[in-house]
Amino acid sequence: MSIVKSAVLGIGMAVPSKVLTNFDLEKMVETSDKWITERTGIKERRILEDEENISQYAIKASLEALERAKVSPEELNLIICATVTPDYLIPSLSVLVQEGIKAVNAGAFDLSATCSGFIYGLAVADQFIKNNPDWKILVIGAEALSRKTNWKDRTICVLLGDGAGAVVMGSSPEPEKRGIIDVFLGADGSQWTLLTLKGGGSCYPPFDKRLPEEEYYIKMQGREVFKVATRMMEKIALELLKRNSLTTDDIKLLVPHQANLRIIEYLRERLNLPKEKVYVNIHKYGNTSAASIPLALYEAEKEGKLKEGDLVLLVAFGGGFTFGGALLRW
Ligand code: UT7
Repeated sequence: MSIVKSAVLGIGMAVPSKVLTNFDLEKMVETSDKWITERTGIKERRILEDEENISQYAIKASLEALERAKVSPEELNLIICATVTPDYLIPSLSVLVQEGIKAVNAGAFDLSATCSGFIYGLAVADQFIKNNPDWKILVIGAEALSRKTNWKDRTICVLLGDGAGAVVMGSSPEPEKRGIIDVFLGADGSQWTLLTLKGGGSCYPPFDKRLPEEEYYIKMQGREVFKVATRMMEKIALELLKRNSLTTDDIKLLVPHQANLRIIEYLRERLNLPKEKVYVNIHKYGNTSAASIPLALYEAEKEGKLKEGDLVLLVAFGGGFTFGGALLRW
């Protein structure tokens, strides 16, 4: 029996054209371009205009991914949208994409796993494709974090950005040369209070006066999250390599979640990877949560840093905590 492996058949991305620079933020909160650059690596981020919605960008990214995969919307069996900032709670963002691209034969659901959402989405798609080799699945990471940002809180507003990335997954035409090799998913709810967005859920419905206004926005105890993120991302990377009898020398490109350049640098040093083997675009987009890895994959390929058959390691970490990794041949 031949092996079935799932693979990325096409990728797309779309970000709002509005740019918010560190200098713009200097006018909004007590911060500086120097602090943001040195502590995070971020120089600017993309932000939705008032009249825009993230579904528009998720649709745009999806159409590009479909075109590049040479797959028509009607051929899609499933749409998985990783997001914590959908347009609405009902309907899901994935359903808006289904309608927007006219994927009339696809099921659709949203997946909430914060910054690890895209990896979780890949893992789900991988399982479906192994069981149904003819299936084509759209996996999207899309976030409108600016809509859940407290623009008065300098500890968070300098970090976040908006954007959408999408991949079309299907069975690999050459499973020996291309496709997902292994995935790692994990979670640790014991420290959930370190990164939260409490307001607007069913515990504290919108406008519930029991909760202070600041709790209707994303809040993070950055220093504590930083410590766990660095430790976990290293652990996932090493675990995935070890259980597939690979070493860091085998990796062509590490594509980590873009939360902080210092986290990425720490990971690079611990894995003993040269700079050219670690993809970074945080300076342009900030932390876009579930969109971060597909945006990075897209740009890495565009810049010629990711070629067919290359061994790629993806690692993510986010609120919850959730974490995950994927090892694949592009
Ligand atoms: O994507 C999901 C996972 N997220 C992450 O992995 C993010 C992890 N955390 C981080 O990336 C970092 O912890 C931050 C970038 C959020 C913060 O950097 P830090 O080096 O850990 O700073 P800190 O929180 O320890 O704060 C250091 C100082 C504080 O002042 P004092 O108490 O030393 O006087 C802060 O008040 O920096 C101050 N500060 C700022 N100063 C200027 C905090 N935010 C700002 C700011 N501008 N925007």
